[in-house]
Amino acid sequence: MAKPRRGDSLELVIDDLAFGGEGVGRVNGYVVFVRGAVPGDRVRAKLVDARSRFGRAVIESIATPSPDRVEPPCPYFGRCGGCRLQHLAYPAQLAFKEKQVRDCLERIGGLGAFELRPILPAPEPYGYRNKMEFTITRPSQATHGGGGLADPARLTQATHGGGGLADPPRLTQATHGGGGLADPPRLTQATHGGGGLADPAPTVVGLHQADRYDVVLDIERCLLQSETMNALLDLFRREIRARGLSVYDVAASAGLLRFVSLREGHHTGEAMVNIVATTPDVETLTPLAEGLARRVPATASVVLNVNAKKASVAVGTEEHLLLGRDHIRASLGGLSFQVSANSFFQTNAAQAERLFAVVEDACSLSGTETVLDLYAGTGVISLLLARRCRWVYGIEVAAAAIADAVRNARTNGIENCTFLAGEVRHVLPTLMRDGVRAEVVVADPPRAGFHPKALHALVALGPGRLVYVSCNPATLARDLRALVGEGYRLEWVQPVDMFPQTPHIEAVARLRRAP
Ligand SMILES: C[S@@+](CC[C@H](N)C(=O)[O-])C[C@H]1O[C@@H](n2cnc3c(N)ncnc32)[C@H](O)[C@@H]1O
Repeated sequence: MAKPRRGDSLELVIDDLAFGGEGVGRVNGYVVFVRGAVPGDRVRAKLVDARSRFGRAVIESIATPSPDRVEPPCPYFGRCGGCRLQHLAYPAQLAFKEKQVRDCLERIGGLGAFELRPILPAPEPYGYRNKMEFTITRPSQATHGGGGLADPARLTQATHGGGGLADPPRLTQATHGGGGLADPPRLTQATHGGGGLADPAPTVVGLHQADRYDVVLDIERCLLQSETMNALLDLFRREIRARGLSVYDVAASAGLLRFVSLREGHHTGEAMVNIVATTPDVETLTPLAEGLARRVPATASVVLNVNAKKASVAVGTEEHLLLGRDHIRASLGGLSFQVSANSFFQTNAAQAERLFAVVEDACSLSGTETVLDLYAGTGVISLLLARRCRWVYGIEVAAAAIADAVRNARTNGIENCTFLAGEVRHVLPTLMRDGVRAEVVVADPPRAGFHPKALHALVALGPGRLVYVSCNPATLARDLRALVGEGYRLEWVQPVDMFPQTPHIEAVARLRRAP
């Protein structure tokens, strides 16, 4: 049979999930990716893109829903770019991620003789994020919902005939719930834009729509963050509307507010609000900060980061303290951390504790070893391992992260760590020339995995034990294949679900140098 053509309506049985979370169906071997479909669904879908080797289709109707299909609890699901797997039951999400790891290791890595451990589920499949960044924009650049676009969530709901759809009020209830907002600011007096802008539509504080960077959804409540952070989000939006604060307009190069980033300290509950604005208007924003702290007492820090440039990034060139401290405190694995607005900290700290426990276990330290922590970030792994070995060298390219790592070591009274700034492929050979050797190496590279020169240097160092933490099973498989080719034996791989409701996959692999 001929390959299907664009515009064709296809009947598909979804038998897999692709890397990004799209359903996969086949017509006579021709692969079709279907957004919003899950394995086990039988759907009718319209082919909107027909390439030579695969196509993309949108759901027209669901003939038979998969037993793993669940009603997404978030009303923004399908439009918001944040979560993509809410419509898949959590056990099925876990099975999908575990299978992705196995498939990559077998197909890309050509690896077979190792133990694939059952994936470690996250303790909280929702409410786990301790940092979220929201865009502040004018309504013309945003959408308040509806829209009637090809939204898989909506199609799903429609197909199931309202079974569970009659629940959007959850959002409204939740917005006011739990946050202890005794006195919500009155919106009736709101005027917009400080400078007498006539537009009565309220300012939007939200997240970008999936695949539409120019559209921002006004998010009342995000299920991935805690109730305290939702209370802060709700209050922040009300306050800026009530105070009529202006919003940055790229075209006009005018207006004050750009982003707000919310953070919460793991185990401490301290909250931080980081307002990103175009000018250091401390006078205007301090009363806003005071209003937030009055109503959400967990607010320990409100800072203003100034970004006057066109580039749409939530990082400032200067920072001003509006209220409290310039950092919040967090704790992880029994260590204390000072987290400032621009420093990195694990976004799912509860699960990171479990991930790092797996890493610590994989290192099998006796106390005498020298350990190398490659791609060390803010040094969390280095500091956790320093308690169990002789010395740790952490290598990291970002100077700001190195500064945090050094400060974190000091805060915790840890003196057996050296942090080195630079790329692994440059710093590691230098360290070896200086005579440093290591029995154990931990590597937690970015998605791209190892640079070939970095891998070459690692093999030359030849540590007896190697623990590879990966956020991309494809590059993990590629690098493991190379390491096995260089005489390492892959013992086990432990997938860990760091980001439920999203397709992101984390895994820890342990290798030993063959004798
Ligand atoms: C997945 S994160 C590691 C996070 C770290 N384990 C932590 O918990 O803080 C990867 C880190 O690698 C760093 N990085 C990226 N490319 C690098 C390179 N070529 N050399 C050294 N570090 C690099 C990034 O800045 C980032 O901090």
